[in-house]
Amino acid sequence: MGIMPCRFRSVYIAQARDYRPGGSKDAGAMEETKMQELRHDRASRPLESRTALVTGSSRGIGEATARALDEAGARVILTGRTVPDLDRVAAGLGNEPIIIPADLSEAGAGTRLAEAAISRAGGVDVLVNNAGFPIRGAPEELAEADLDRILAINVRSLLMLAAGLGPTMIERGRGSIINVSSVASLRGPIGRVAYTATKGAIDAMTRALAADWGPKGIRVNAVNPGIIRTAMFESRQEDMTAVAQAMARRVALGRLGEPRDVADVIVFLASDAAGYITGETISVDGGMVHAMTAHEGSG
Ligand SMILES: NC(=O)c1ccc[n+]([C@@H]2O[C@H](COP(=O)([O-])OP(=O)(O)OC[C@H]3O[C@@H](n4cnc5c(N)ncnc54)[C@H](OP(=O)(O)O)[C@@H]3O)[C@@H](O)[C@H]2O)c1
Repeated sequence: MGIMPCRFRSVYIAQARDYRPGGSKDAGAMEETKMQELRHDRASRPLESRTALVTGSSRGIGEATARALDEAGARVILTGRTVPDLDRVAAGLGNEPIIIPADLSEAGAGTRLAEAAISRAGGVDVLVNNAGFPIRGAPEELAEADLDRILAINVRSLLMLAAGLGPTMIERGRGSIINVSSVASLRGPIGRVAYTATKGAIDAMTRALAADWGPKGIRVNAVNPGIIRTAMFESRQEDMTAVAQAMARRVALGRLGEPRDVADVIVFLASDAAGYITGETISVDGGMVHAMTAHEGSG
C-alpha cells in the first residue's frame, strides 16, 4: 500500500479521535500516539525488512543511495572494487550491511555477484544498478578495448545481475530494480558517444525488463542524473569552480546536483509509494535538459 501523505494522515487521526464513542480520554490519547508512531515509522522507514543491493556503493551516488536506503530501513548489500571505501560506508550504516567486493568489468561478474547476494542474504527486494564510468573522446579515436570495457560495466553486468537476482524477486512476488542512467541518453553530448550508447541501452533495457517482469510483480525504472557533484564529475575538469558555476547557469534550478538528490528519488522508486510506476526513466537534473531546450528554442 502507498504511503499516505502526512497532510491527509493527520486529518484522519484527528477525525478518529473526534468520533470515538465513549472510552477514557487518556487511553484514547495513548492509542492515538501509538498509531501516530506506527504511521511515522511506516512513512520514515518505508523499506523496513527489505534487502537492497547497490552497485558502485563505495562512493558518489551509490554511497548516498546506500545511506538513504539504510535510513529508510533496508539492509544494504554494498559492492564495488575498493574494499576500504566499502568498509567506510558500511561503518555509517545501521541495518547490518553486507559487503561483497566485485569488479564488474570481469566476465561473469554480474552472475557471481547475484549468486553471492543470494547465498549471503537469501536474495534482494531492491536492486540499484548504479556502478558506471564514462569515457570521453572523439568517435574516430575510440578504441575497441575501451568500448568493450564500458559495455561490460555499464551494460553487461547490469543486465546479468538483474537476470541473476530477478528469480528471487519473482519468488517473493515483488521487487524493484532501479537503473542509474544519465541525461546523456536523452541528448547527444559531444565527445561521449560510447558512454551515451551505454546509457541509451540502459533506458531501453529498463522498458524491456519492465514489460517482461511487470506481470511477476517486479517494477523496473531508471533515474537519469544531470550534473551531480561526485568524484566522476570533479575528476574531469581542472578549474572546477569556474566550470561548476558555468554549468549551474544551464540548470533551471540554478545549482548542480548532490548525490543525495538522486538517492532520494531512488528510495522513492524502491518503495511501495511508487507501486504503480514501472518502465519509466526519471530525470534528476534540476530541469537542465528542459532549460537547454528552452534556450535553444523548440521550433
Ligand atoms: N556524477 C554525475 O554527474 C553523473 C551524471 C549522470 C549519470 N551518472 C551515473 O551515476 C552512476 C554513479 O556515478 P558517480 O558520479 O557516483 O560515480 P563515481 O563517484 O565515480 O562512483 C562510481 C562507482 O562505480 C563503481 N565502479 C566503477 N567501476 C567499477 C567496476 N569495474 N566494478 C565495480 N564497481 C565499479 C565505483 O567503485 P570502485 O571504484 O570501488 O570499484 C564507484 O563506487 C554512474 O552510472 C554514472 O554514469 C553520474
